[in-house]
Amino acid sequence: MRIVLLGAPGAGKGTQCKRIVAKYGLLHLSSGDILRQERAAGTELGEKAQSYMDSGTLVPDEIIVEMMVGAIKKTSETGFVLDGFPRTVNQAEELDKALVSAGQKIDTVLNLKVKHEVVARRMTGRRSCPQCGAVYHIENLKPKVEGRCDNDGARLIQRLDDSLEVVANRLRTYRRQTEPVVDYYKKNNMVCDIDTNKDAGEVTDLIFENLDALVKA
Ligand code: AP5
Repeated sequence: MRIVLLGAPGAGKGTQCKRIVAKYGLLHLSSGDILRQERAAGTELGEKAQSYMDSGTLVPDEIIVEMMVGAIKKTSETGFVLDGFPRTVNQAEELDKALVSAGQKIDTVLNLKVKHEVVARRMTGRRSCPQCGAVYHIENLKPKVEGRCDNDGARLIQRLDDSLEVVANRLRTYRRQTEPVVDYYKKNNMVCDIDTNKDAGEVTDLIFENLDALVKA
């Protein structure tokens, strides 16, 4: 399966992707995670992306398309879940072109819908593992030991772009540049809307129902 996961910041894309890849054996390709790894490694790409990420605006399309299409090419026959890409209509068109030339296509687009008023609470309470990327929340997805990752015991961190001010800008950027991507895929009847204003486990069940139907079809 080749899946695109769309959704505003805090919709739960990263949380749900980890569960999808665990069940269906797919590769998780998160543009945000790849950019953060590049930054941590001090690469030129990471440096270029830094100011955009810190202010909650989008990294230019040409940088992102090259990075993500390159990552997709390495997946060969393994299916994948795209998380955070495409985020502009131009990125979606470039993705289509790259897939067509590889004789591939996207099977489904899961659009995670979240009320924007709950986003701030989710983001400011989010804690992540810098080693394995596991995502927690200080109230509703707590680690077993406070401040430590369940998988590897690493000290959990708070993302710099999860401040209230930057989150507000990320939501504005989402409305302006990423909502049109949902319409782009809706024209091709590829979108499955998922309400994520509920417990993360219930959201996972809904997603699995949809993907199981796709596998059986
Ligand atoms: P990126 O890392 O992709 O951030 P984002 O899209 O803003 O998404 P998040 O990772 O913040 O949220 P999420 O939906 O994954 O939520 P999560 O599961 O963690 O991008 C960061 C930056 O990189 C961008 O601003 C941009 O600058 C750049 N960038 C990336 N891709 C780009 C692209 N294609 N083009 C240009 N620039 C790009 O959940 C959030 C919290 O809520 C967690 O604490 C979780 O535990 C909790 N939670 C999750 N689900 C639930 C639930 N159902 N109920 C209660 N709590 C929940």
